[in-house]
Amino acid sequence: MSAEIFDKVKNIQAEIKSASPDTAEALEQFRIRFVGAKNILKPLFGEIRNIENERKKEFGQLVNQVKQDAETKFNQLKAQLEEKAEEADAGQLDLTAPGEPLQLGARHPVSIVMNRIVKIFERIGFVVAEEREIEDDWHNFTAMNTPEDHPARDMQDTYYLQNSTSMLLRTHTSSVQARTMVEQQPPIRIIAPGRVYRNETISARSHCQFHQVEGLYVDKNVSFADLKQTLLYFAREMYGPDTKIRLRPSYFPFTEPSAEMDVSCFICNAEGCNVCKYTGWVEVLGCGMVDPAVLANCGIDPEEYTGFAFGMGIERQAMMLYKINDIRLLFENDVRFLNQFTSAY
Ligand code: PHE
Repeated sequence: MSAEIFDKVKNIQAEIKSASPDTAEALEQFRIRFVGAKNILKPLFGEIRNIENERKKEFGQLVNQVKQDAETKFNQLKAQLEEKAEEADAGQLDLTAPGEPLQLGARHPVSIVMNRIVKIFERIGFVVAEEREIEDDWHNFTAMNTPEDHPARDMQDTYYLQNSTSMLLRTHTSSVQARTMVEQQPPIRIIAPGRVYRNETISARSHCQFHQVEGLYVDKNVSFADLKQTLLYFAREMYGPDTKIRLRPSYFPFTEPSAEMDVSCFICNAEGCNVCKYTGWVEVLGCGMVDPAVLANCGIDPEEYTGFAFGMGIERQAMMLYKINDIRLLFENDVRFLNQFTSAY
């Protein structure tokens, strides 16, 4: 009796070994017969009770082995068939089918505004200067007339690198002024866009990282009148030909005299809106004549040369131009937000 059953299992094993289904249908038949829920091996497990005790173990192992053989073979055949199907598909490329549409990205609003500002200054001979974001204390502060104990350092909460009292994330692009002047004698005419960092609480109005564009012009006989005319040109190119500017006295350690520039509100044409807080003016940049001490710190003779500098934040301008009410949107990279901006710049 038991020899018969052993033979039965061995026959099934041989059948599995010799089977070579080469179509999806044949493979499906194979699956149903040997692997599926009602495969022919299943009832054999029940036969174990009819086997004499000393051969029960041998029988169990045999049936399990055959079951495994079936599954292994099925998986192999399935993989082979799939591969074949893929090859066949590849051979049937429809060369007349239209191409997959390419998803074009959009420029980030901060880049749009920054590029626009840079282009305006390039048109009057300013050259782009880009520098490192990890700066040393000297280029960010000391050279810019802001020594260790200077109260103006409190104006800008600084991120220092771990375990360092001298390496920091630059707090303004004014460090590019120092880098350029140390390396280059006048005439210098640079426009420096870039990212800056300040240890500020993140809110809808302020962020710990943002972008600035810095301008520097050093040559013989550069005067405040040159600064004013340059900024007027910029304001008209940037915000429209009828834009007015006004300069208010201010303070920066690296410029003397210093000023802040307002432009007539480009949102409401100076008629009064909540962006200009009904004053008709919006503040856009800080500027001034380069302090002679800064020139001297950087190896330029202040008796021979004078210069002007200005710096402006980009995010605030982008927010005004595009009516964005939360600065955090500019750093979250949500494509639903970013896809709304298009520009030729
Ligand atoms: N660095 C100043 C700031 O971050 C801006 C500025 C640049 C002012 C150049 C004057 C001259 O606020």
